[in-house]
Amino acid sequence: MPKLAAVILAAGRGTRMRSESPKALHRICGETMLGHLLKAAREAGAEKIVVIAGYKIGLVRREVGNRAAVVEQRRLLGSGHAVRQAERALSGFQGAVLVLYCDTPLVSSATLKKLVGAYRRNAGGGAMLSVRMESPTGYGRLLKNSAGFVRGIVEETDAGAAEKALREVNVGCYVFGQAALFAALRQVSRNPLKKEYYLTDAVGILAGQANVAAVRAEDSRETLGINTQKDLATAEGLMQQKILDKWSERGVRIRDPKSTTIDAGVEIGHDTVILPNTVIEDGCVIGKNCVIGPFARLRGNSKIGDGCVIGNFVEVVRSMVGEKTQIKHLSYIGDATIGASVNVGAGTITANFDGKKKHRTVIGDGAQIGSGTVLVAPVTVGKGAKTGAGAVVTKGKNVPPGKVVAGVPAKILKRV
Ligand code: UD1
Ligand code: CA
Repeated sequence: MPKLAAVILAAGRGTRMRSESPKALHRICGETMLGHLLKAAREAGAEKIVVIAGYKIGLVRREVGNRAAVVEQRRLLGSGHAVRQAERALSGFQGAVLVLYCDTPLVSSATLKKLVGAYRRNAGGGAMLSVRMESPTGYGRLLKNSAGFVRGIVEETDAGAAEKALREVNVGCYVFGQAALFAALRQVSRNPLKKEYYLTDAVGILAGQANVAAVRAEDSRETLGINTQKDLATAEGLMQQKILDKWSERGVRIRDPKSTTIDAGVEIGHDTVILPNTVIEDGCVIGKNCVIGPFARLRGNSKIGDGCVIGNFVEVVRSMVGEKTQIKHLSYIGDATIGASVNVGAGTITANFDGKKKHRTVIGDGAQIGSGTVLVAPVTVGKGAKTGAGAVVTKGKNVPPGKVVAGVPAKILKRV
């Protein structure tokens, strides 16, 4: 199979977001728009990915990490100019290039694979994603030839009345052969109105040389372009629905999808029940047969073992919870490692922050933490140990396995 690379355009500021963050770094379901596209491009088979950045490039670099190469576009002279910046980074590469816009972040890897498939069938030419829109204002309109291939793309500002009436628009995902793409980009001149080098003009040039197929998006929701905070909220809703549907299909019971928020990078085992008003943030992993919520919040890559109960008004952050452990009411569990079959009583708090640093709390298997216990970290409660209701276990005063402590500060009870 010939190779695939991807170029993701993320240099724009996104003025209409009215935000100091670069547009590419706004989040949808816990993951940045750029992060979603990096993942989709990788899943679609891109071996090399180049991100074009400009506005606040340092922040974009930090977000990308080692997931892709980042190339600077010093002056924002248009999407065609942006893609040209990737030429050097792809100079050793021969194969197909997927070009994506970071403000179209909902496109799935399945759709990208379809697009790459159309390109491969259409050897020597190209493929681009299109969608039919009832109100296509603002998008580039597709011109087609009698055989149904793309003839060119007309931007809104250049479109005459007849072209404006066209309903099939450019989504902003393309696949072309590397050499042909960069050769065509070199031929593009500045758009006389906007003074920018349009990628869409290069598509017109390529279409004059070989067949460029328009692949209609099967799910038009994937084609949403993000320009405003309102669009971002719409995208959040669309992606959240997909995430909830995915977990339902995999055997997770979600009592009230309307009030449940599950980020994209979450794992949940089958037969787990998620009760209303629960928030599960990026990186959390929940086992099977758990009950989570109502009103629970899990975050910071927390791991919850099989058969746990995380009940109402419980927050768990950066913590591991062993199987069959119950934390049923009103608790804050931060930076903790909790064993299996532990019972954490109502109102238990891990006091993890001393004003400067965060510290860990460790609770061994089978321990029983009485209601209203405060565990001042760093502290360890041994296996099978118990704390009395209202105990304050102070910093470093570890509770030995099997012992019972009570009081403020908590002391070991000799006889129980
Ligand atoms: C673009 C398409 C249009 C399509 C629409 C879909 C062009 C000329 N037009 O229009 O046909 O229907 O997307 O949403 O491409 N960017 C850079 N550097 C630049 C300019 C842009 O990196 O100098 C990036 C932006 O960050 C953005 C993407 O390219 O991610 C698209 O640019 P944008 O200005 O949003 O193009 P549209 O007007 O939306
Ligand atoms: Ca746009």
